[in-house]
Order: sequence, then C-alpha cells, then structure tokens
Amino acid sequence: MITDFLHLKAPGNWINDPNGFLYFHGAYHLFYQHFPYAPRWGTMHWGHAVSHDLVHWTHLGIALFPSKAYDRNGVFSGSALELDGKLHLYYSAVRYLAEEPEDIHLARGGGLQTSQAMLVSPDGRTFDNWSKRQIIPVLEDPALGDAADTRDPKVWASDGGYYMILGSKAQGQGKVLFYRSGDGTHWNYANSYTDPSFGSMLECPDLFPLGSSYLLVGSPMGVIQDGLPYADQTMYAPADFAEDTCTLRLLAPFTYLDWGLDLYAPQSTLDDQGRRVLIGWMRMPQAVRGEADGRGPWRGMMSLPRVAEWENGRVFFRPHPQVVAQFTQPVSSPRPTMPLRILASLPEGASLDLFGYQIRRERGAVTADRSQVFDQIPGYRMTASTPPISAPCCPLEIYVEPNLVEIFVNHGQYVLSHVVYGLRGSFSGPIDDMTTVS
Ligand code: FRU
Repeated sequence: MITDFLHLKAPGNWINDPNGFLYFHGAYHLFYQHFPYAPRWGTMHWGHAVSHDLVHWTHLGIALFPSKAYDRNGVFSGSALELDGKLHLYYSAVRYLAEEPEDIHLARGGGLQTSQAMLVSPDGRTFDNWSKRQIIPVLEDPALGDAADTRDPKVWASDGGYYMILGSKAQGQGKVLFYRSGDGTHWNYANSYTDPSFGSMLECPDLFPLGSSYLLVGSPMGVIQDGLPYADQTMYAPADFAEDTCTLRLLAPFTYLDWGLDLYAPQSTLDDQGRRVLIGWMRMPQAVRGEADGRGPWRGMMSLPRVAEWENGRVFFRPHPQVVAQFTQPVSSPRPTMPLRILASLPEGASLDLFGYQIRRERGAVTADRSQVFDQIPGYRMTASTPPISAPCCPLEIYVEPNLVEIFVNHGQYVLSHVVYGLRGSFSGPIDDMTTVS
C-alpha cells in the first residue's frame, strides 16, 4: 500500500488536478486526475487517497475510469458532495471526435466533446463505474459555452439546493456557467459570468463563502503570452454571489493565489472544524525516479493543505494547523533530514541559501531562485517574486521537501512555491528556527 506524508504524490506515473476533495464519513477523500500508464498526461482516470488528518495519505487505487461512450476518452476534473449519506462525484466526461492513430490518449487535432456526468458511491470506497449518469449534455449553443471546453464542475449545497460552477469559454473569452438542482441529479442552467481576466478559457473554477463575501478561484488559460511552458497561473478574487439568481460580481481584480511558477487547478473543501482548505497541483516538468516504496517513476504532486482566511480586509493562505503540528523536532545539523520547517526574517538585501535554493529580499519583494536546483529545461522560468512587502523584517515560514519548497510570506499574505530537483549541501542565512518531524 502506498502512503504519502504531508504532500500527496503520484502513486506512480502521472497525476494532475485534485478532484472530489471532501470530508466524508470521518475521513478526508482526495481524488486526483491520473494517467496510470506513463509519467505523462493521457486518458484521465480518478485516482483516490484518504486521510484522517490531511497529512497522512493512503492511496486506494483508481476510483473512476472510462466506461461509457460519453467518457471513453477521459474522466476529467470535478468535485464531491455528501447527499443522503452518500458520496456524489461530479466530473467532466470527454469523448474524442477521433483519436490520434499513433497515440490513442490524445485527440486528433484536439477535437473533442465534453459533457458533465456523475457517479454515486454508497460509502466512498466502492465505485460502480457502470452506474454513472450523464447530467449535462454537450453544449449546443456556442454563445452560451463551448462544446469541447466546458468542464470541471465544482458543486456545493446551500439552503436545501445544490449549485454547480463550470469553467467554459465563449466568443474567445473565458467564462463560468452556473447550474442549479433541487436533488443533486437533475440540473438546470441558471446564469453565467465572464471577465477579460478569465483568459481564453477558465479551468477549475471554485466559488465559496469566505468572511462576509465569496472567493472565486480559477485557472485562466492564455493570459500571460510569454511563450513559456506553464504561463497559466491560478488566480483569485473576492466576489459577491447572489444564490437566488446565481449572479456573480468580482469585488477586486484577479490576483495570484501562489506567486511561484507551478501551482495550478487547486480545489477547496471544508475541514472537520469548518476551515476552508485548498490543495493545488504542483506541475512537474520531469518525473522523479521511483522510490523504495515501489511506486516507480512519478510525476506530479499536491501542495500542502492551505487554510484561506479573511483578516483585516484581505485574504491570507496559511499552512493547515495539522501541518504545523508535525514539526516538533529541533534541528541543529548542517545537513538535516527533510521535511523541514524553517522560520526566518528577511530584512532588505538579505538572502537565504536553502540547499542551493536561494531566497532574497530585493526592493521589498521576496524573490526565490531555483536555478541551482532545477534541471536546465529550455524555456522554464527559474525565479519568481512576491509584490513588495512593507514589514521591515519580513517573516517567512518555509517548508522544504526534496521536490518542493513552499514559502509563506508575512504570515500568509503571499505564498510562493516551487518544484525543485536535487536540493543538496547545507543552508545559510538569517534563520530563526528549524524543525523536522518526529
Ligand atoms: C486543469 C485541467 C482541467 C481538466 C483536467 C484534465 O489542469 O486541464 O481543466 O479537467 O486538467 O486532466
């Protein structure tokens, strides 16, 4: 049985987006986009893992796989809901118009059709893939949304009704569509919303109440036209949402959810204490060689669970308390064992060297540079910065794992995360505290 600690990683081969993240019958369920045959993207399945604390994960294998004509080429991203004590899973069902003759896991010329479908599991452990049902057919009105690119249902319950937000596009611009249901199975179109900041297509939208308003999180495609891999980044904005009409209004411009280069398509849920927790996919350009646990080459992992909190008129993203609670052992060795939690204060002009990963304070901003711990892959960016921070000695809370560094800046005002390969050597700089797990 494959288990993961702190970060859920591909159990072998490929994973991308988190799906169906839900606390159900006393356990956290986290599904994920999974291609089980090679460490690259292909025909999508839903892999499944469970946890009792959001930090120890047990992989349970594949839950959803193609079984119907309408999802024969992929069970794309979606979400989960508890209804009548059962786990309801909602996903996008993909059917290619034609397959690439030499690679059946890709659509020839990108031609495909997407509908929305669901599967009900009585217990969160058994998944009858032949009991799926299609709930929203392929869209036929291009003014409403795209027949190929309408996907990623995020579903929630409120006041006895059920709501769904979908990512889509129309007239070349990203868009969200809202559907409503009285029973979680029969869905009716309610409204839509579009904004130039949604790019050419908005993937994986998530909308939830936070503080006195809502937060819209989404992953727009094609916004930053710099020709680099992974130009697409996840954004968020506070929003107003009127449930009776499904009318959305952004209250501020979209801004980065993570100021690093790799986090994408996060999904949120409520934890057992009612906190809003997000987990995002960390894109990895290369596979990591197999580990002793037998998972073989793996590519793709999840971020730490992060709690979104509204404080003093702005949103903070902080590591979940269960993460913090793991780090109890003080470290004194110059070559400590990972994972590590590092607290540091970075005045202007100061820098940290964490095993080859560099963090600097320049013109108020925190800049992280992975050039010494990332293979030279053409086109990939090596550095990223937060906006300037006014705190004179900027407090940092840093989590270091062999393939991921996550920096929570100024108590979660900004987060900056990077995938890395080959951290080595030791550390130096203004470190206040370093702990590892027991
Ligand atoms: C985002 C995404 C989703 C889609 C899934 C397919 O990374 O493109 O929009 O459902 O991945 O794997």
